[in-house]
Amino acid sequence: MHLGEGTDEYRDPVEFFRRTYLTESLKGMLVAAVQRLTTGGGDPVVQLQTNFGGGKTHSMLALYHLFSGIAPTELAGIDEVMSAAGASRIPTARRVVLVGNKISPGNPSTKPDGTVVRTLWGELAWQLGGKPAFARLAADDEKATSPGDALRELFNDYGPCVILVDE
Ligand SMILES: Nc1ncnc2c1ncn2[C@@H]1O[C@H](COP(=O)(O)OP(=O)(O)OP(=O)(O)O)[C@@H](O)[C@H]1O
Ligand SMILES: [Mg+2]
Repeated sequence: MHLGEGTDEYRDPVEFFRRTYLTESLKGMLVAAVQRLTTGGGDPVVQLQTNFGGGKTHSMLALYHLFSGIAPTELAGIDEVMSAAGASRIPTARRVVLVGNKISPGNPSTKPDGTVVRTLWGELAWQLGGKPAFARLAADDEKATSPGDALRELFNDYGPCVILVDE
């Protein structure tokens, strides 16, 4: 979907939430994410642990759509999430989607702006802030070495953000 693929009911935020069953665990995750991006409470890192087909990808899609900048009143069930989070608005956040099986150092990908990305952190930087963000750790992307402190600086300068990592 982030790749421009996927069927309409997954790509359209309104349709997506209309078809989403807001389970306690999904609701809890969305509430924590809203809190994280408003008051700064909530967990900074959430690991989704369910069985195969248990809704991990679906939960990430929900986060992706929730912070798309759409008016939350259009999303089914989100009023409930906002009141539980004590939030009067849904913040916008930069969204990064990392899909493990799409990224490998041996398989550089060329972005529409010409940037050639080789590593997970290069991909993350490019999605966060395009060419200028990528430039900050281009050398570590090229050599596949650890970007170290550059990542922290990137988050400071380009946050708030939501980073979704699926396998
Ligand atoms: N809360 C929900 N409301 C409605 N549909 C859901 C919900 N959670 C999951 N689904 C649907 O159930 C199916 C399986 O969910 P999903 O693909 O998210 O699981 P997964 O944990 O990512 O699985 P896998 O381990 O195979 O990657 C999908 O069709 C998804 O849209
Ligand atoms: Mg999945």
